[in-house]
Amino acid sequence: MLFKSSIAAGLIAAASAAPTTTTTSASSSSSPFGAYSYPQEPSVNSASVASVASFAGIPASEIPGADVPVAPIVSSQVTGTTSHGPYSGTPTTTGAVTTTALGSEIPVLPPNPKETGYVPNGLLHDPQPVPYQPAGGLGTNGTEPVYRVQSDFDYESILLGLYQEWIELDLFHNILATFSEAEFTAAGLTPSDRFLIEFMADQEAGHATLLSNLLGGPGGATPQCTYNYPFTTVHEAFDFTQKLTRFGESGVWGFQAHLDSREVAQLLDQSIATEARQQMIFRQFAGLFPMPVWFETGIPQSWAWTLLAPYISSCPSNSKRLAWQNFPALTVLNQPNSARINATQGGLNETAGFGPAAPSSDPPAGQGCVGNNVTGFDCSAGVSQNRSIALSYPGRKVYLEWENPGKAVGPNNSYVTSTSAQAPQFVLWVSQLNATYSPLMNITSMDGMNYGMTIQPDVSTYEGDPAINGTMFIALTDANITYTAFNLSGVNPHVAAGPFLYQAG
Ligand SMILES: *[C@@H]1O[C@H](CO)[C@@H](O)[C@H](O)[C@H]1NC(C)=O
Ligand SMILES: *[C@@H]1O[C@H](CO)[C@@H](O)[C@H](O)[C@H]1NC(C)=O
Ligand SMILES: *[C@@H]1O[C@H](CO)[C@@H](O)[C@H](O)[C@H]1NC(C)=O
Ligand SMILES: *[C@@H]1O[C@H](CO)[C@@H](O)[C@H](O)[C@H]1NC(C)=O
Ligand SMILES: *[C@@H]1O[C@H](CO)[C@@H](O)[C@H](O)[C@H]1NC(C)=O
Ligand SMILES: *[C@@H]1O[C@H](CO)[C@@H](O)[C@H](O)[C@H]1NC(C)=O
Ligand SMILES: *[C@@H]1O[C@H](CO)[C@@H](O)[C@H](O)[C@H]1NC(C)=O
Ligand SMILES: *[C@@H]1O[C@H](CO)[C@@H](O)[C@H](O)[C@H]1NC(C)=O
Ligand SMILES: *[C@@H]1O[C@H](CO)[C@@H](O)[C@H](O)[C@H]1NC(C)=O
Ligand SMILES: *[C@@H]1O[C@H](CO)[C@@H](O)[C@H](O)[C@H]1NC(C)=O
Ligand SMILES: *[C@@H]1O[C@H](CO)[C@@H](O)[C@H](O)[C@H]1NC(C)=O
Repeated sequence: MLFKSSIAAGLIAAASAAPTTTTTSASSSSSPFGAYSYPQEPSVNSASVASVASFAGIPASEIPGADVPVAPIVSSQVTGTTSHGPYSGTPTTTGAVTTTALGSEIPVLPPNPKETGYVPNGLLHDPQPVPYQPAGGLGTNGTEPVYRVQSDFDYESILLGLYQEWIELDLFHNILATFSEAEFTAAGLTPSDRFLIEFMADQEAGHATLLSNLLGGPGGATPQCTYNYPFTTVHEAFDFTQKLTRFGESGVWGFQAHLDSREVAQLLDQSIATEARQQMIFRQFAGLFPMPVWFETGIPQSWAWTLLAPYISSCPSNSKRLAWQNFPALTVLNQPNSARINATQGGLNETAGFGPAAPSSDPPAGQGCVGNNVTGFDCSAGVSQNRSIALSYPGRKVYLEWENPGKAVGPNNSYVTSTSAQAPQFVLWVSQLNATYSPLMNITSMDGMNYGMTIQPDVSTYEGDPAINGTMFIALTDANITYTAFNLSGVNPHVAAGPFLYQAG
């Protein structure tokens, strides 16, 4: 209780301790963004306290913490307007937030010599600050934590995270509102499973609140938007959602270790650990094997934003704009169809709706695995569904289609796709701890669209762990420069199109 309330207090304090320039600029008439506010004052919910006391059978005054005020969640600003669908207006502003750019590519440098010296031999090399605490670590010297973004990098990363939390909150509610109990039952879901979706939506309200606070409060945070979804059936909804939560989770793994604020990274991780569970649960609801990989991968922020933007139709006028890049869209024409008994049997274009997370469409009767009660060939919701026929395989020909840059995407169609790469020559496969290339072949163009083919590589993370599996990422690049998990964002100037979520397993 004490722990919880001190964290909450720390966050409120951090929010109110935001530099005055931030708060005043956000509310002053010179701000490019309209005023945005939400209740932040902690309060005691006396009905809830009374209910706790009644259940326990002792006075509330004897229950530690019962009289401690609780911070409210940031509620959606567009509650009640449950409209969804595409945006058809004209943007009032276009493009990413920018300032002076000092170069076009981050230089390649040798390792920091300080990082090659430590001798890991089981011995302690420096005096301990206190007994039982080895020397070193960041933020371990007693300095009071400040739970607030500390740089443009931090701010834009957490702002992207907040955009992601808001769509998840809307999406989980929307799934519950869209389908009947009978439709959920047919897909293998029980009433308890449906309650789990509701609970996951509640988690998103908490995550949106945390990230709003880490952004410094209303002056830095952004409200919820209006969304456009590509699904029409329960299986499609879960397939879309396991893809959307995959890039939400991987988007954070891509930047959290790079944040200036260790405090922000700490609390962010504690929300993304939950997000990771959500992603796995939506795989289970879609009848996919819950986790066919040993490691979850990370992607750069601009990749996450490229994947997310097509599903945001419009945002309120007081929204904050992002600095990340939207790359030209990439599509796998023969995306494995997870709703099929044999995922690769469908051929081309077996997806519903639109965008980089377009779900597998429901296949013709007799070829689908939803409700197919045969072990190994069933994709009804389940704790684990073994797939006797793997969704993809190394050596598979993967057919690709990609757009040229310059297309309006995202909220109010107000961002524009761009690339600084030359013509693409490689497909970059980002999965587990690996980023590996395959040659892009048979490149053609027709009617402003580009086409090509590649062969799914056969690479392993460690022996016994094929790297390319699960819901993973591909992008087209103009070079095959080596990147690893911690420097992957350096590839962005070389990305010609994508990323796209490939359903490898
Ligand atoms: C404690 O560590 C922080 C960086 O984490 C540093 O800025 C600060 O100077 C350190 N304080 C002391 C007293 O060493
Ligand atoms: C986006 O469109 C909506 C709906 O038309 C509008 O209310 C909002 O002000 C627009 N947002 C921006 C940033 O222009
Ligand atoms: C699955 O479909 C592919 C494509 O039609 C086919 O090559 C493969 O043999 C099928 N696998 C099984 C086990 O039927
Ligand atoms: C798949 O879609 C692409 C364009 O998006 C089109 O060129 C192709 O003909 C389609 N293929 C089939 C089999 O429908
Ligand atoms: C699946 O089949 C098994 C064995 O045939 C049967 O016991 C079970 O009740 C079936 N389950 C469902 C959900 O139909
Ligand atoms: C699970 O699927 C694998 C193929 O991925 C197969 O080798 C194995 O026999 C299956 N196990 C069960 C229990 O169905
Ligand atoms: C993915 O992992 C599953 C579960 O281990 C396995 O059955 C399948 O063959 C793997 N797929 C690929 C493409 O390696
Ligand atoms: C690639 O193009 C060559 C001719 O340029 C053609 O022979 C081959 O069939 C094509 N491969 C695929 C997989 O489309
Ligand atoms: C995959 O990642 C592992 C762990 O970082 C590394 O040891 C291995 O060399 C990588 N493999 C490829 C093909 O990139
Ligand atoms: C990069 O491409 C070149 C030429 O296609 C090839 O020789 C080299 O092995 C590739 N390197 C990587 C890391 O894929
Ligand atoms: C990224 O890091 C790897 C080592 O993990 C290094 O081999 C590679 O050269 C780096 N790439 C760039 C472009 O700096």
